[in-house]
Amino acid sequence: MERHPEKLSIPFIVLCLGSLLITAFWIIVDNGHLVPSEPPSLKNIPPWPSDLCKGCRELIEKARELYSKTWKKQEDNYRNFSSQLRSQCQGFDRAIITQANTPVGSNIVYSEESTTTRMVTPEIFSTFIKENPFPKKKWDTCAVVGNSGILTNSSCGEMIDSAQFVIRCNLPSLGKGYEKHVGNKTDIVTANPTLLNRENGSLNGPRRPFVESLHIYGKSLLLLHAFAFGFCTPLCLKAAYSIRDLESPIRPTYFNPDYLRRLTNFWCSRGLHSGLLSTGLVMVNIALENCANVHVYGFWPFSIHPFELNAVKNHYFDDETANWGTHSINVEFNLLLQLHSQGVLRLHLGNCRPGKN
Ligand SMILES: *[C@@H]1O[C@H](CO)[C@@H](O)[C@H](O)[C@H]1NC(C)=O
Ligand SMILES: *[C@@H]1O[C@H](CO)[C@@H](O)[C@H](O)[C@H]1NC(C)=O
Ligand SMILES: *[C@@H]1O[C@H](CO)[C@@H](O)[C@H](O)[C@H]1NC(C)=O
Ligand SMILES: *[C@@H]1O[C@H](CO)[C@@H](O)[C@H](O)[C@H]1NC(C)=O
Repeated sequence: MERHPEKLSIPFIVLCLGSLLITAFWIIVDNGHLVPSEPPSLKNIPPWPSDLCKGCRELIEKARELYSKTWKKQEDNYRNFSSQLRSQCQGFDRAIITQANTPVGSNIVYSEESTTTRMVTPEIFSTFIKENPFPKKKWDTCAVVGNSGILTNSSCGEMIDSAQFVIRCNLPSLGKGYEKHVGNKTDIVTANPTLLNRENGSLNGPRRPFVESLHIYGKSLLLLHAFAFGFCTPLCLKAAYSIRDLESPIRPTYFNPDYLRRLTNFWCSRGLHSGLLSTGLVMVNIALENCANVHVYGFWPFSIHPFELNAVKNHYFDDETANWGTHSINVEFNLLLQLHSQGVLRLHLGNCRPGKN
């Protein structure tokens, strides 16, 4: 494969494959932060998969087109957006339940079941973190890392780890040779309750294997949806008690359902009318309130690579097939594309160049 080391190069490749015309642009901008390289091999380029979801081809083409333009942070757009989020959702001090914002005796209303409520007892309260984990002054750079197979062989590990604050979603695999492509630094890692439920026998058996599996995340915050549905609370409390009893350094915390409701309303008024917000999108929003520069990696809900056109697995670390459940993942992805094109955040879809960060 050929490399294009020039400061700014736009290799332009037109491929004809039967009646199919695929146009792709690559831009390498050496601004000390950047990205794509690696033009695809001209062999083995498959046609669009026949099982591509409805409307997905258009979204992929749109992503490709937007991504071909040089990205530049638009400070005004970023400020406007970040301050709207701050005033309407208040994630900077309400996204996570703390002893300061949720005292004993408060009534928690579940985010996905408004008829389920729970009074905060001293016992539950003792599992809340004491203080807001987000600093008064914004972090300079945050990386929000999704788990898409688009990260496979991306060489983005060093760039991801160079962020001041790294957020990962849903207990991803780390190490095992993945570090070159996804990094290994973690400040927040989320865990979906259905994952705890399914993979670890609802934590009813021995808890040590589960707690030991968390060691790769070090002293990070483990962010749990403890108050989404009723079944989540006992499960998340079991996880929190196991971590405490086995003196693991990871710090369990809970999403604040009040914040999730505000965020749902915020996005509802901007076109996201159905489906539960994905945890990934929630984390991007938390980052936008707390970080001056938000870089998003591993968010790609499609089964074909936008530039290399090879198959992309749902996760970089396993063969599980995609099941977005009630999430409107295409609509969410379209919103991320919009924020990228407005210069509010930067979506990384290409490969990163080793040695650059
Ligand atoms: C901020 O964004 C809103 C809606 O997205 C827009 O109506 C408003 O004009 C923007 N304000 C500035 C100062 O750009
Ligand atoms: C990633 O790279 C390895 C080693 O070069 C290769 O065997 C594998 O097929 C690549 N995977 C993808 C999805 O490109
Ligand atoms: C993983 O992270 C630790 C710090 O948490 C660092 O010392 C180590 O070099 C990292 N390993 C790799 C392979 O990047
Ligand atoms: C579930 O437990 C197994 C060990 O029994 C562990 O390897 C795995 O990582 C755990 N999964 C999660 C999501 O915690």
